Amino acid sequence: MSAEVTTTVNELDLGLVRQPSTVLFGPGQRRQLPAAVAAFGDRALLCTDERMAGDGLFRDLVEALTGRGIDVEVYAKVEPDLPRENLLDVVEAHGGSTFDVIVGVGGGSVLDFAKVASQLLAHGGDVRDLYGENIVERAGIPIITVPTTGGTGAEVTCISVVYDADRGMKIGVASPYLEPAMAIVDPELTLTCPPGLTAATGADALTHLVEAFTGRAKNPGAEQIEAHLYVGKNLLTDLYCRHGLTMVNTAFARVVADPGDLRARTDKMMAAFCAGMAINTAGTAGAHAIQSPIGALTHTAHGLGVGALLPYVMRYNLPTRLEEFAEIGRVLGVTAQGESVEARAQAGIRRVEELLETIGCPLNLKALGLEPDGFEYVADQALLATRLTANNPRELDKDAVLSILEHGYHDDRSWWQA
Ligand SMILES: [Fe+2]
Repeated sequence: MSAEVTTTVNELDLGLVRQPSTVLFGPGQRRQLPAAVAAFGDRALLCTDERMAGDGLFRDLVEALTGRGIDVEVYAKVEPDLPRENLLDVVEAHGGSTFDVIVGVGGGSVLDFAKVASQLLAHGGDVRDLYGENIVERAGIPIITVPTTGGTGAEVTCISVVYDADRGMKIGVASPYLEPAMAIVDPELTLTCPPGLTAATGADALTHLVEAFTGRAKNPGAEQIEAHLYVGKNLLTDLYCRHGLTMVNTAFARVVADPGDLRARTDKMMAAFCAGMAINTAGTAGAHAIQSPIGALTHTAHGLGVGALLPYVMRYNLPTRLEEFAEIGRVLGVTAQGESVEARAQAGIRRVEELLETIGCPLNLKALGLEPDGFEYVADQALLATRLTANNPRELDKDAVLSILEHGYHDDRSWWQA
């Protein structure tokens, strides 16, 4: 393994974000949903999961829509990690129907489901035909996202991640045509989030912020900007990362101390939104590549997995991203003038770990149930996720992933330089 330095400098002074046409953010803003839906037409498919379908808030939304004269169908069978079967099922249930708009009300899987259902209900077919980057080439049914967990950022991203059981892995469908037309982000919807879900989504958002801010600046040419969605960290993704980090810095402790603290929930949701805005162009990196096979082996939540990996991925990346980690330390208020860049970078990493701990994320891989006999499998699978490994600032090879897993298993947070 070499500590080779990959491109760090945004030589083009590039700024690029993709986002919904309209974003409506704030406590109580879900009440704007009927007006938002009516702008598209009077036939809506509302997608959600079992937990949310039984929630009074969801029933109120359905009532408000029907009260406005909108014909609403509900699909409430979306499962965690979005199995491909859910998408086959919705085509079977609603394939003959015409909808003016599809609304996703839920966590990341529900919102990802709505984005793919928009394509399949408009054009038919199987999600398998859409796997990959820019395979989807035309608009589907307009999508409105209403997130309820405050973590994944899926409300603003133009990617869906689907679990394909036959292939034994998660696969992305990424295209600007999956971009929601509108995101309605109402922190009141997260007030009933149980602590485990708050921990997982908080850890996911924080990991997005760190991976996007420390990712590669790719200095893409015109052709690369046209051909690829993930063109690297840039001036605009950095702006979202800085604000998101500022928000999590105090929000996590306040949410844990009082889960009903609406201002703290609002700050956490703003952080998740900012993180989503950043990864929609910068992409995620090493922790996300390695989590996917660990999740498949241990059946642990995505957010807890990426969070548990983050301390070790940050340490591995540190030699190539001293300035960026030092800047994270500055934003999080743990650096002092006159300290070396190494000291400031290490302080930034330690503060990120403190925040993960505060929100309730495990900081080692043993806690996820991963055992050393799974390391080879995890490393091989992680390296197949080239969309993610290509974003990692320091080159990831098999030895590097195995080293991250070893250190993560033994909770070794010394300043190792693999
Ligand atoms: Fe994530």
